[in-house]
Amino acid sequence: MRYCNYLSFLVKKEKAKDQAMSSTNRMSDSANLDESTDQEDRSFIGHTPSQIDALANRLAPHYTDFRIADRILLTGHSHQAWPNVARQGVLEGYHAAAERVDKKWGLAFEKIEHLRNYLRSWYNDTNGYYCPGPNTHSLVCSWLSSLNLKKGAQIVTTADEFHSISRQLKRLQEEGIEVVSVPADSLDTLADRLISALSPKTSAVLTSHVFFKTSHIFKEIGALAEVASQRGIPMLIDDYHGTNIVPFSLAPAPLAECFLVTGGYKYLQWGEGNCFLRFPKSCRLRPLMTGWFASYSSLANPPEKIIYDEGDWRFASATFDPTSAFRGSHVANFFTEQHLTPSTLRQQSLGQIGFLRNAFLNLDFPKETIDLAHPLPPEQNGGFLSLRSPHAGRLEEILFEKGVFTDSRGDILRLGPAPYIGTGQLKQAIEILGEALASTAKNL
Ligand SMILES: Cc1ncc(COP(=O)(O)O)c(C=O)c1O
Repeated sequence: MRYCNYLSFLVKKEKAKDQAMSSTNRMSDSANLDESTDQEDRSFIGHTPSQIDALANRLAPHYTDFRIADRILLTGHSHQAWPNVARQGVLEGYHAAAERVDKKWGLAFEKIEHLRNYLRSWYNDTNGYYCPGPNTHSLVCSWLSSLNLKKGAQIVTTADEFHSISRQLKRLQEEGIEVVSVPADSLDTLADRLISALSPKTSAVLTSHVFFKTSHIFKEIGALAEVASQRGIPMLIDDYHGTNIVPFSLAPAPLAECFLVTGGYKYLQWGEGNCFLRFPKSCRLRPLMTGWFASYSSLANPPEKIIYDEGDWRFASATFDPTSAFRGSHVANFFTEQHLTPSTLRQQSLGQIGFLRNAFLNLDFPKETIDLAHPLPPEQNGGFLSLRSPHAGRLEEILFEKGVFTDSRGDILRLGPAPYIGTGQLKQAIEILGEALASTAKNL
């Protein structure tokens, strides 16, 4: 029996599970979410320095493989260290293959289901299916292929989407699709400007929840979702910079109808290969680009017409390396065991961003040399501090030479902590940034 038989069994099992899920998920949510994640209730107060250190010190012994004490990893917004238990996950994936051969998939799909449940809980979400994919690019492509994109059709988006979306949309534009890119700099009016750009020919709207250059949180995203829903326009949210760092409830009706992509490379600490497209259970879209994992149930007797299984796999591709799901599942367990709830993660991040921001402002460098990328308070900021400098790339190099990992995007230098980083390292990183700016000022 190849694993497809097992998979069609899973499809049936999933239907039964869905019914159970709607009643039990609320219970596990309330166990996991120690504070409401409703959009209205975002009044998290950041951890104080001693609270930051208490949590970081508790977590640090679990991250020794990544040598987090030997270097300052401020690339948490890109790739956080994995807890040591991730190794057991990789080994479990290996041993599952060695022991079970083609029958390893049963266990692999249980791991994926575990990751889905983690995300359902994070998003307060009883209305969503979660289709796995190796990266958000492949999932976005599958999703775009389900839209009505004839020549002259229109897509509304922001000018600050990550490349996985922006590259694809630019290519579609070359083929005659009208792409309206609304600048994402002025947050107060962003929802209104996106709404004004919608027209009867709009086939889709795509936006980030947290923007990858500035770390801005798009708080009015619900207002956009509401209008998109009223007009029957599918809306896709890129939440890669929100998941596991900026609590976001998909319970309100218009948001429950949205599509959302996210993945494990950053704040989830699941590593690469663990991306998901969340879609509403009512979705009947028929993506052009899918693989045979989208319809296991019909594999024995494929019908004339392409069908899609009910459940999480509608946008799926085909055979993939499941090791990443084993790794991710061990890490997800670790987060639960360590009580790293949405509220705790957000408060640790808020405290750290506030600490970094103050330390940076105390350096008091001329604004034309380096400045905050935006003046908004940490509450409107996601998981990294974004600094604007014409020397961002060079500063990243100097910091790296001194053991401080950061990254840069054009004139933006990004400093992203993670829950296991204490104030000692944050302070040291800003001191090193100050020295780099001062000592190289004439060469820069
Ligand atoms: C906002 C955002 N979306 C998506 C991605 C990753 O995309 P992909 O999974 O297609 O590599 C990133 C990675 O840095 C990102 O910052």
